[in-house]
Amino acid sequence: MAIIEVENLVKTYKILQKQDGLIGYFKNLVRPKYKELTAVKGINFNIEEGELVGYIGENGAGKSTTIKMLTGLLTPTSGKIVVNGIVPYEKRIENNKSIGAVFGQKTQLWWDLPVIESFRLIKQMYKLPDGEYRKNLKKFTQILELEELLDKQVKNLSLGQKMRCEIAATFLHNPKIVYLDEPTIGLDVFVKENIRKFIKDINREKKTTVILTTHDLKDIEDVCNRIILLDQGEIIYDGDKQKFKDIYGKYVFAELVVSNKNGKLSDTITLNGCEIVEETEKSIKIKFNHEETTIMQILNTISNHCVVEDIHMREAELEDILKEIYKGAHKC
Ligand SMILES: Nc1ncnc2c1ncn2[C@@H]1O[C@H](COP(=O)(O)OP(=O)(O)O)[C@@H](O)[C@H]1O
Ligand SMILES: [Mg+2]
Repeated sequence: MAIIEVENLVKTYKILQKQDGLIGYFKNLVRPKYKELTAVKGINFNIEEGELVGYIGENGAGKSTTIKMLTGLLTPTSGKIVVNGIVPYEKRIENNKSIGAVFGQKTQLWWDLPVIESFRLIKQMYKLPDGEYRKNLKKFTQILELEELLDKQVKNLSLGQKMRCEIAATFLHNPKIVYLDEPTIGLDVFVKENIRKFIKDINREKKTTVILTTHDLKDIEDVCNRIILLDQGEIIYDGDKQKFKDIYGKYVFAELVVSNKNGKLSDTITLNGCEIVEETEKSIKIKFNHEETTIMQILNTISNHCVVEDIHMREAELEDILKEIYKGAHKC
């Protein structure tokens, strides 16, 4: 049975419509006007134990709203959620025992306490046995490089240091499911890599189910094997990450290093299935659909107008594909 079951899940927010001026102010008090915004529009998915799911979509797509409902922080307007056999918003405390969550830069650590004291409090709150605690602490300290930080007060840590401690705190009680809503925002690349490695290690060892939302698609590339893509409150793709790339990643990107270029090529030549994305005196960046043309055909045309000295090619990455999807019709 799936560890997370979501059926026809809907969340509609009621938003107070502000009325201007002094009269408006009193009108607001006496007869407030509301408008409705449906942030999540009847979504369905099941997640199996041990899956690493990237929950992605543009700003305002409804990702955080979904995660807040899954964690029990918000009650759905309609639909069904069962997480590990529990309806989260009905039994929040019971649900909390088996989950961990990070919401952006909000901290669950005690601001004025040394990090290690927060960890001890978490141990007590979750009644984690001594042996288990020590084992996790040792392992987490090693992977997340926390040694130097444990005795420092949380308020004195940098953003990256804080997030590493936050991640350790989230996984400390061996939660079966962890929700990470934008955990890597604002972090430098080394901290990001460190956190990604940690998530993968723990998932491999403990089969922890992880749902990750992020704007850094490298997080998804590196960590997740499944993608759920949300667009304006609806799921427009749910499945294997590689398959997603195979279906939608028709583009190949190439940068040509050139010399003796004769004017602006994008004004003078037409290339079927290929677009010149950027062009300078010495380089031409192109994007082409490999189902419609080949690099040889493109070079044949371009080399009539300049000398091609070098070529760098790369396949479309998740980010490129999503840009295309967001740019075009919204449905996949
Ligand atoms: N507490 C709230 N009250 C009213 N509207 C909200 C609230 N939280 C989110 N929204 C709206 O719901 C939509 C989805 O928001 P959110 O779930 O935060 O998206 P995401 O996390 O994908 O950026 C947005 O249009 C947002 O403005
Ligand atoms: Mg969000």
